[in-house]
Amino acid sequence: MKPVKVGLLGLGTVGTGVVRIVEGHQEDLASQVGSPIVIEKVLVQDKSKARNISIDPDKLTEDAWDIIRHPDIDVIVEVMGGIGLTKEYILEALSLGKHVVTANKDLMALHGPEILAKAQENRCDVLYEASVAGGIPIIRTLVEGFSSDRINKIMGIVNGTTNFILTKMSQEGASYLDVLKEAQELGYAESDPTSDVEGLDAARKMTILATIGFRANVALEDVSVQGISSVSKEDILYAKRLGYEVKLLGIAERQDDLISVSVQPTMVKQTHPIASVNGVFNAVYVYGEAVGETMFYGAGAGELPTATSIVSDLVAVVKNLKLGVNGKQASLAYKEKKLKTDEQISSKYFLLLKVADRAGVLARITQVFADFEVSLESVLQQPTPSNPEVEIIVITHDANKAAMQKVLAMFESLDVVHEVKSVYRVEG
Ligand code: NAP
Ligand code: HSE
Repeated sequence: MKPVKVGLLGLGTVGTGVVRIVEGHQEDLASQVGSPIVIEKVLVQDKSKARNISIDPDKLTEDAWDIIRHPDIDVIVEVMGGIGLTKEYILEALSLGKHVVTANKDLMALHGPEILAKAQENRCDVLYEASVAGGIPIIRTLVEGFSSDRINKIMGIVNGTTNFILTKMSQEGASYLDVLKEAQELGYAESDPTSDVEGLDAARKMTILATIGFRANVALEDVSVQGISSVSKEDILYAKRLGYEVKLLGIAERQDDLISVSVQPTMVKQTHPIASVNGVFNAVYVYGEAVGETMFYGAGAGELPTATSIVSDLVAVVKNLKLGVNGKQASLAYKEKKLKTDEQISSKYFLLLKVADRAGVLARITQVFADFEVSLESVLQQPTPSNPEVEIIVITHDANKAAMQKVLAMFESLDVVHEVKSVYRVEG
């Protein structure tokens, strides 16, 4: 049995996990695919750096081309991250007929179509299960498990770092910055954690999920993005009082052929299963026209969970090699993309307003909602220490995004509204 040789680009959090799983599960893997899988070479930035895994120093290289152009390497596993150089390496590897497994959502969200086209051209596989929701096999589930259904909604907690932060803020009253530091130390956060907390990491993952789920090429710029840096402890307390949790949700919806994709902190009813997904865990809720509601839950980041997805992709590539069917995957995005306008995007909203405590104020505020045909589900008023001011908490019925933008613009110019403290989408 000729071994299948793998070139590993990166030996950080995920790369270390890949080595552990490939070496630790060697016999099982060989039995499944009919050949030993061997990590032949490993790319790092600095060979002299201390590693928390023992590895033959002869396998380490600081020159990516040693791996990409290595004549015996069949599969490249890319876990170094980044976009520019990494894309160059992957395209070159594909043009040399090497298959690619990657965890790189940044790259796949931005350049997925180009990379997949290059793979097809060269009859190669490119698999990227680990790029979304770490250890949850959600990509394979959408591609294969839902191939018979039409997906109408994908709603996910797809960023472990922000879920870890929001959970600790909610359960322990911890400060945002302290928890972010802990997430970085645990290896969950990106090298630049801004992309986690500002929602970009989740947006990239939703781009990938929406493309696969709706079978249309969704681009990153189609996703409306808001992160969690403005979520306050006060908002979380209000949410809990009203029976909600605040979660950073990616939401992709389809109605007829129109789609919308967004990422934003969202108040989720505590009775919805996604509200109880805590810590670094991720969950993806998928609503299929025929199957109804389904939900997939698991570790969204970290060494071994992410490496599990990588090695499963590796197994799939090697099985394809044995069958001689690499690069023969049907097109994933064969439909024309049609995006909803703001008038067509609809959801419930939570608003926290600080307003003057005078006769007629509540009536003026509710009139603004009425003027833009936004119907209200509940209104709660309570005094604040800064008299004469009260807080008004409003939850709307389903309202379209354009109408809500007009309501908020009107509040800006209304003297009785001192501050629009918070606005959240509401789900569940
Ligand atoms: P990491 O810990 O920062 O590791 C990156 C590795 O790549 C390091 O070994 C580094 O070498 C090497 N590297 C980086 N740039 C390089 C360059 N220009 N040339 C040579 N080597 C280079 O990153 P990670 O957390 O494992 O993440 C890797 C990828 O997986 C990223 O795309 C990330 O978004 C994705 N991902 C991560 C997770 C997670 O839980 N961490 C989950 C899902 C997906 P040195 O060791 O010498 O510095
Ligand atoms: N930074 C990412 C997260 C890693 O926190 O979810 C997994 O993609």
